[in-house]
This record gives sequence, C-alpha cells and structure tokens, in this order.
Amino acid sequence: MEFDRKLSAADRDIRLPIPFGWYVVGYSDELPVGGVRPLRYFDRELVLWRGEDGRTRMLDAYCRHLGAHLGHGGRVSGNSIVCPFHAWAYDDRGTVVDIPYSRSIPPRVKRPCVRSWPVVEKNRLIWAWYHPAGVAPQWEVADVPEATDPEWTACERFEWHINVHLQDMAENGSDTAHFQYTHGTAAYPEQKTAFDGHIMRTDINAPMDTPRGQVPGGIHVVNVGPGQSWTRFTGISETLLISGVTPVAVDHVHVRFCFLQPKAQAEGPTAAVAAAIIREVVRQLEQDKRIWDNKAYVASPILCQGDGAIDRWRRFYAQFYPADAACEPEAVT
Ligand code: FES
Ligand SMILES: [Fe+2]
Repeated sequence: MEFDRKLSAADRDIRLPIPFGWYVVGYSDELPVGGVRPLRYFDRELVLWRGEDGRTRMLDAYCRHLGAHLGHGGRVSGNSIVCPFHAWAYDDRGTVVDIPYSRSIPPRVKRPCVRSWPVVEKNRLIWAWYHPAGVAPQWEVADVPEATDPEWTACERFEWHINVHLQDMAENGSDTAHFQYTHGTAAYPEQKTAFDGHIMRTDINAPMDTPRGQVPGGIHVVNVGPGQSWTRFTGISETLLISGVTPVAVDHVHVRFCFLQPKAQAEGPTAAVAAAIIREVVRQLEQDKRIWDNKAYVASPILCQGDGAIDRWRRFYAQFYPADAACEPEAVT
C-alpha cells in the first residue's frame, strides 16, 4: 500500500545552505504598476510591488508593527507599500514613512526595520539578489538581447516546483553519464567547459538526427552565478532557453523555463521542428525531476571515469557559499 513519505532535508543529507546570487522572482508582465505579490523564496516570506514610478521593490513581508503580511492585502501608495492592517507605509529601504493615525513615527522604524532586497529588471524578468548576510550584489544580471528582440517570439513559459537543492539540480549539465541512462540519448556528445569567475560556459557538439540524415548541431550554455542560465540550441532550428531556478528552501526550487525562437523559424515551415525541440527539453526536465524529487545529496561521491567534470564543477559552485557558511560543501577528491 502506498503512503506519502515527505522526507526532511536532513533525511536526504541536504546540508548545504542556499547559495548567493541573483534569482528570478517573477516575469515583468505579471506585475503592473501598483501591483503587489506575496512571494516565498530563500526560506522567507516576501512582498514584491511596483511603485507608481514603474520600479519594482521587495521587502521581507511581515510588518514590524503587529506582524501583518504586506503581500496579502497590502496596497501601493506612490512608491511605498501600505500595510493592510493599520496602514503603516514602508519605502523600499524598509523604513516606515507614514502612520496615518499617529502624530509621530516611533524612532526605531524611522530607519530600515524590515529587510529590503536589491531588485532589477532585465530580459523581461524581475531578479532579486540573495545573500544570507545581506552582502551587496557581487555581479550584474547579464543581458540576453533576444529576450527583447521583436524578431524573436514571445517567451513560451513552463514552470515546476521540485524538491531538490539548487546545486544538485544544476549539477545535471556536468553529469555526462546520465544523458544516456536517464534521457535515452544515443551517446553523450563531446563537451567543453570554461570557468571564468562566477561565469561558466559549456559548448556541446550535438549533431541531430533528421529524416534527411544527421545535421550539425550545438548546445551552448552560459551560467551566470547559480540563478541565471541560458542555453542556445543551434542546428536545424535555433532555440534560446532562459532558465531561472530560484530556491524556495534548501530542499525546494521554483523552476521557470522561458523558450524563445526566431519568428522566421517558429512561424514558418520549420515550425514543427522548432516546437519539437521545446517538447524534448521539457521531456528531459521531467525525467530529471523524478530523480531530483527523491534523491539524497552526496557530499563525497564516489566517481568513476566517464562521469564528466563533476568535481571541477563543484569547486566552481563552492564560490557561491559564504566562506564561513556552517555547511560548506566538502571538496570532492
Ligand atoms: S500590522 Fe502593519 S500596520 Fe499594523
Ligand atoms: Fe538531465
């Protein structure tokens, strides 16, 4: 008889903290001027809003007065967020700027009293910078010009919630052996990876089988920190996948996949091939999801020839944990 076993992070040996970096917290078009959204990311309750000047802002969600959630019933006034309970108004630094029924504002809330988060909008997405100690952003969100190019399609969106640590999910690209056994690809093609500070670039030579025989194809992946990555598929049909994977908790991520294609391809005679590429990437994600949802984290894996550059990849990834993090990943030997 089946029973629902919800294992804790500790049960699955997930002892890594949330890595720092820029993470997607929404699509720009989901948040109109004056819009307010409650969010849960980084193991915290958050409120995101768009002020009348068009800029997005994010604070921790609980009001310093008596604890109402600013994202549930809060409203925008000017560029501030107004609490739904007693109408205290906060600016984007988390400072109380108005209490309509009081002659004075308590000094302790005249300075930032709820945590504020750096937020930017790029590539039609809203990004927030997470660092456990509140350290300022250490790099910028990269521009992906196709995201705003009128010659490219609007983004075709998919999303998933997966019970996995972000690092374990991201390791997938360096795990060369699983492609054959999890995804049923014929054999894993050659892969070249270059590490440059917080950026990792991977080039994969991937010829594609078509009814007219094999044609050359390639997959080019760029990772900027742990939360931003984009993948260009070239060959029979060009496809760009912008993926944003955002930690909800140490053992839970929110995945957004946004696919873009040149309109000339997606709407022309190659439309079926273009759509098939998207279907295949989604199919592979769902195959991986079954593994990720249930796996344990292995800090010191036993690797063998043919496993790819997992150890090198983990060394690259370790830079996204603060040096004093209590649970820094163990080096792989
Ligand atoms: S709880 Fe927010 S104003 Fe009172
Ligand atoms: Fe995979």
